Amino acid sequence: MYYPDELVEEIRSKNDIVDVISGYVRLTKKGSTHFGLCPFHNEKTGSFSVSGHKQMFYCFGCGAGGNVYTFLMKYENDTFQEAIEKLADRAGVKLPELEMTEEQKKQVSEKARLLEINKEAAKYFYYQLRGDNGKLGLKYFAERQLSSETMKKFGLGYSLPYSDDLVKYLKSKGYADELIVKAGLASHDEKRGTHDKFWNRVMFPIQDANHRVIGFGGRVMGEGEPKYLNSPETPIFDKSRNLFGLNFARSSKKDYLILCEGYMDVISMHQAGFIEAVASLGTAFTSGQASIVKRFCSSVILSYDSDGAGTKAALRAIGILREVGLTAKVLNLKPYKDPDEFVKNLGADALQERIDNAQNSFFFEVDVLERDYNLKDPEEKTQFHREIAKKICNFADEVERNNYIDAICERYSISVDAMRKMVVGYAGIGIAKPVEPPKSGVKKLDPDEGRRKAQRLLITWISEEPELLDKIDKYIGVSDFTEDVYRKVAEKLFDGIRQGDFEPASLISMFEDEEVQKEVALLFNTKLTGLNGIPIEMDSGLDKEKAFHDIIVKVKTNSLDYYSSKLASDVTAITQVVEGKKKLEELKNIKIHLE
Ligand code: GTP
Ligand code: MN
Repeated sequence: MYYPDELVEEIRSKNDIVDVISGYVRLTKKGSTHFGLCPFHNEKTGSFSVSGHKQMFYCFGCGAGGNVYTFLMKYENDTFQEAIEKLADRAGVKLPELEMTEEQKKQVSEKARLLEINKEAAKYFYYQLRGDNGKLGLKYFAERQLSSETMKKFGLGYSLPYSDDLVKYLKSKGYADELIVKAGLASHDEKRGTHDKFWNRVMFPIQDANHRVIGFGGRVMGEGEPKYLNSPETPIFDKSRNLFGLNFARSSKKDYLILCEGYMDVISMHQAGFIEAVASLGTAFTSGQASIVKRFCSSVILSYDSDGAGTKAALRAIGILREVGLTAKVLNLKPYKDPDEFVKNLGADALQERIDNAQNSFFFEVDVLERDYNLKDPEEKTQFHREIAKKICNFADEVERNNYIDAICERYSISVDAMRKMVVGYAGIGIAKPVEPPKSGVKKLDPDEGRRKAQRLLITWISEEPELLDKIDKYIGVSDFTEDVYRKVAEKLFDGIRQGDFEPASLISMFEDEEVQKEVALLFNTKLTGLNGIPIEMDSGLDKEKAFHDIIVKVKTNSLDYYSSKLASDVTAITQVVEGKKKLEELKNIKIHLE
């Protein structure tokens, strides 16, 4: 599957990387670069940079980097094909039809067909609800106080009380039994043939973050088992990586999402104006969902049922959220069971007030813990305090730890001193754990790394100050970059600069492998230091000139060593060596003025 380089480049240049990434990550401009929280690793400070000038992103924390294609491929898990389609679409560029292998065609077309058939089913349920046979469904939703506007927004529908109604309809539209079953809309057995999965239920289409229907939840109207029936997982429906309501919640300007248990909770919250509400899909909240949530906000308000199961689910979710670096708060909905009932009875203002006063997740955990102890009994009370101390040890930050100690001591009238000692005691046990020695003994310094580093520094430097190319042209050539990837990059970089239209981002698409793309991104984002690792003072002309000179000499020396070692096996190496020796001597004796 290849598109001409020019086309790949045209589409890339028509999608400004800052614009595209802003749709996913909150960016703040600092100087000429934009910064934000890295979506590819957990962090609290923004090491993720996006440069409009270079049209690249790079994370100083985890090293993820690349151009706009790399970003989509990493972030959305897209293939290159999918990424280029999205970006072409975004820029209004038409892509030529591609020659695909049969297997590729099958995969692409199967996903597309599954999306299509789900959309068709959603339309069908939608019209049934509003048609002659939909009265029961409408009555049910009316009892649950949903406005027709809300029903329309969420595309709510109804499945008729016949067992093969949808199947018949879909077949009349030309879909094969096999695909209908694969989409999870029907089952097949000997006795009944292909028959509907959902019937006589009100239907909740489940959409991905881009408003595409990927599955359904169907609820019985009244009592009955199961209360909710959900589509099974399919190639387009991954329950651990989607959230109900996220397609709307992602437009919320709030810095938090509200995580509910049920579809109805989300719908009533949205109806009451809380568009930041989402729910997991009939399964427990997963860390995959947590990392998706993290793309949109920094904290989550848990709005689970106030019963035992809800509490347990909340405790689990708190742990998962904490792990990805999200803060959690817990909503108190008492005396109501869930947000749907709460908002119906007390209204939106009261709910907002509860949101504003949501409980810090640590105190929520302590509250739950407290239920297990009889605090009138000194023995149990001590045990309870010990458990609290253990929990406090989990805060890595000292200030944070002390704040929690103060707060908890005030609440339970514990002496701060005593609690602090207890925490130190437990923390000590943690620290005293023996540090495992590295398995392979002492880590050796990679001798190639020094060589690579010099080449990297030179490339970064020249990409930042392209006018320098003229000054070193005489001594350094593309062949002095002995790393394969670096050489290719240098070739493009030097050519581009000479032609006056170089943009580092265009280079990334030359490399297919994600690891290589990462390395190329690093090439343009190496922190400028001397070979000794000391940052270069850009305003101190002399130091800068020396550092630059050292780097070129090192690159040249390395290249000479490299070609000398190849003399026996490579006849062309001899020219490199002879020329290289001469130039290195010259180079050692000249001064390069950077201004
Ligand atoms: P309502 O009674 O309609 O208000 O439901 P609820 O939103 O209060 O839901 P509940 O707390 O009972 O369940 C929360 C979520 O769990 C639902 O939205 C479903 O996704 C899921 N769920 C509930 N019942 C079942 C069931 O019987 N089977 C399955 N697979 N999922 C269920
Ligand atoms: Mn409910």
